[in-house]
Amino acid sequence: MTARHLILVGLPGAGKTTVGRLVAEDLGWPFVDVDALIEERVGSSPPAIFADRGEAEFRKLERRSIGELIAEDRCQVIAPGGGWAAQAGALESVAERAFTVYLQTDPHVAAARTEESHHRPLLDVDGAGRETRMRELYWQRERSYDRCDAVVETDERTAAEVARKVAELARSQVG
Ligand code: S3P
Repeated sequence: MTARHLILVGLPGAGKTTVGRLVAEDLGWPFVDVDALIEERVGSSPPAIFADRGEAEFRKLERRSIGELIAEDRCQVIAPGGGWAAQAGALESVAERAFTVYLQTDPHVAAARTEESHHRPLLDVDGAGRETRMRELYWQRERSYDRCDAVVETDERTAAEVARKVAELARSQVG
């Protein structure tokens, strides 16, 4: 079976949403932000779901949403939250239907990029604590992220440059 979708993977701050929108525009495919989709369906935000129902419930909603998205026949650019690809069996579950690209980012850069955002429950710490937390996430997840179909380095590139690279890969791999 040919892959129909492109899924972007990487730490919070890797640029999954920004790059995803640009790639989708370039390819003429719909863009789906999985966190936003979950919020729309459930009626509460990911931080509220983490707080009220716990991370395990959020992961269940995330897994279900992605399962439904990849079953669709139209090609889509899909950006799940950074934790999805590190869940057991996640990458395997999309292997036949999606081409996965890891947007690689140094945790120091990712921490700086997310400094102003306060909607990430796993990064709900300030300053130096945030960078330490990002490094922990990186060490926990790196081996999973590395199992994506392709890796694109983002630290030295603008979002537009990353998007061009990802779109090129998608054109050659997805259809
Ligand atoms: C998470 C990242 C968030 C969001 C949730 C959990 C994670 O998305 O899904 O807070 O586990 O890294 P972004 O990667 O878009 O910040």
